[in-house]
Amino acid sequence: MPARSRRKIEYLRVSVGDRCDLRCIYCRSASPELHPKGEILSFEEIVEVVRVASEFGVRRVRLTGGEPLLRRDIVRLVELLRERCDLQDLSLTTNGTRLARMARELKRAGLDRVNVSLDSLKPERFRALTRGGDLKAVLVGIERAAAVGLTPVKVNTVIMRGVNDDEAPELVRFALERGFILRFIELMPVGEAVRNGLWRRAFVGAGEIRALLSREFLLVPDTGAEGGGPARYFRVEGLPGKVGFITAISRPFCAECNRLRVTATGELRPCLAFDSGIPLREALRRGDRDAVREAFAAAIEGKPPGHRWHEVPTRTGMDELGG
Ligand code: 5AD
Ligand code: SF4
Repeated sequence: MPARSRRKIEYLRVSVGDRCDLRCIYCRSASPELHPKGEILSFEEIVEVVRVASEFGVRRVRLTGGEPLLRRDIVRLVELLRERCDLQDLSLTTNGTRLARMARELKRAGLDRVNVSLDSLKPERFRALTRGGDLKAVLVGIERAAAVGLTPVKVNTVIMRGVNDDEAPELVRFALERGFILRFIELMPVGEAVRNGLWRRAFVGAGEIRALLSREFLLVPDTGAEGGGPARYFRVEGLPGKVGFITAISRPFCAECNRLRVTATGELRPCLAFDSGIPLREALRRGDRDAVREAFAAAIEGKPPGHRWHEVPTRTGMDELGG
């Protein structure tokens, strides 16, 4: 086994709750189980986690879920993080259903930007894919986020064979015309997508999507880094936005991974691809900052060199891991 090198960790994803108002077919079962409220980290506890994380070099934080905008007073959490932590970049991943209502106050509270999941532009298909979602509400939410300056707006799309694989060009036109950054995320063998067989049945590699897009667009590699994440970006002549690919399966980027995750119940996860984590909640509730520090040190030290998804899928659901 090769020696593990100590990673530079600068990015933390924090799930603020496991509830969601949608049940996307690749993420959530038709009847998801939820953790009791008492198991979910409080705002004070989340702030404490982020403060310790910043001692280890974290300057960028993303709030996720479930659906983070369902967490009561989420705007207050954004304010608290802004007041008490020294962050370069505070962002949020959302399904967009409540964005129209909340974009302005989130911006005012100090949120920098949002990523919005969007897998179809066809209302009926969107409804089926999310098991009940209203496409119009999400589209209005995205426009609103752009209008109040939660920018650059990023749109996340998971292409699945036989589900939405005919929509890639349309999604590119939609997003790039409006100056958004569209990212095609390869379907990952995580949670529900494994249990319901979707991952085996419907995986589409980024190479195939690129080839399809190349029939309509001239994709020019973009050299400027965008957000320091794992995507590789391209420009399309004549359109202001960018399109990127997150190739977790076809071309893993584990070696450059600079992130840790905290689940809604306060487990520190070194890697999305493994089910192991270090529980922080008890230490947080005792006010034992040193124990939280030790957990971060151990998670960074123990971060696996790369995923082994071809052998072992991740059992924990994406709605708990925070994407
Ligand atoms: N594979 C890839 N992406 C996923 N997401 C949820 N489940 C999966 C999966 N199995 C995406 C959502 C959202 C982001 C947080 O994670 O579409 O955009
Ligand atoms: Fe909810 Fe996001 Fe999962 Fe869809 S992908 S069910 S919106 S948490």
